[in-house]
Amino acid sequence: MQTVLAQSARASRSAAWRLPARTFASSAARAQAEPLEKPVLNKEFKIYRWNPDEPAKKPELQSYTIDLNQTGPMVLDALIKIKNEIDPTLTFRRSCREGICGSCAMNIDGQNTLACLCRIDRNAGKDSKIYPLPHMYIVKDLVPDLTLFYKQYKSIKPYLQNDNPPEQGEFLQSREERQKLDGLYECILCACCSTSCPSYWWNQDEYLGPATLMQAYRWIADSRDSYGAQRKEQLQNEMSLYRCHTIFNCARTCPKGLNPAAAIAKIKLELAAD
Ligand code: SF4
Ligand code: SF4
Ligand code: FES
Repeated sequence: MQTVLAQSARASRSAAWRLPARTFASSAARAQAEPLEKPVLNKEFKIYRWNPDEPAKKPELQSYTIDLNQTGPMVLDALIKIKNEIDPTLTFRRSCREGICGSCAMNIDGQNTLACLCRIDRNAGKDSKIYPLPHMYIVKDLVPDLTLFYKQYKSIKPYLQNDNPPEQGEFLQSREERQKLDGLYECILCACCSTSCPSYWWNQDEYLGPATLMQAYRWIADSRDSYGAQRKEQLQNEMSLYRCHTIFNCARTCPKGLNPAAAIAKIKLELAAD
């Protein structure tokens, strides 16, 4: 038996030695026919610049041209290439480059989105315009000031409140109770939705905006939380919630595919039923 196996192994080895000769020949022919370098595909990016150290200078769009065949596929790749190789002063936030941290939110070709999830339009004849999230104070270039946004988020107490924790040490939920949190807990607080909301643009001092309101509902809907009544009471006024006019800009722009407008509508329903 061993002899048969050894013969068969020798036979397949010798077959394997014969095959590469043809394979190498055809690869060599292909290598000669195909150039190794991809052709240059230059594209222009026009990027919002503003430097707080030069307050007299108005904001402007600065133009950068890069070869898309020497860049990763996402807009964040292009920004990193520009910063690393052309202009180290270009300022933007980023961390995970996986659509998880929410820090690379910006306005790309008219749409609020995450630069790390936004593919570069490979139409090289069309420039790409990149601005910071709209209607926000700017710290520098593509970095918006999110102080108020986080203050509003903090105001809804985005954590579990329950004065009677279960004796066994963990809160139990049925499948149905847990499912109520789907479409809510995935929010990464990128602020794309709030900064696309006309009501938030004009009333952001008092209106909480879609991102914060969706998180308020995330805790109202959580069966483990016993402060739902107080949470709803906090929203029962003219400005915090009712500035939402259900225009759905927020749902259209969310890069995670969530629907803050639907969550806001559910809060309104719950308030109407109380
Ligand atoms: S709902 Fe969507 S757009 Fe709004 S903050 Fe959350 S992830 Fe961002
Ligand atoms: S649905 Fe409400 S929260 Fe969403 S964009 Fe419109 S007004 Fe803003
Ligand atoms: S870098 Fe984290 S979401 Fe884009």
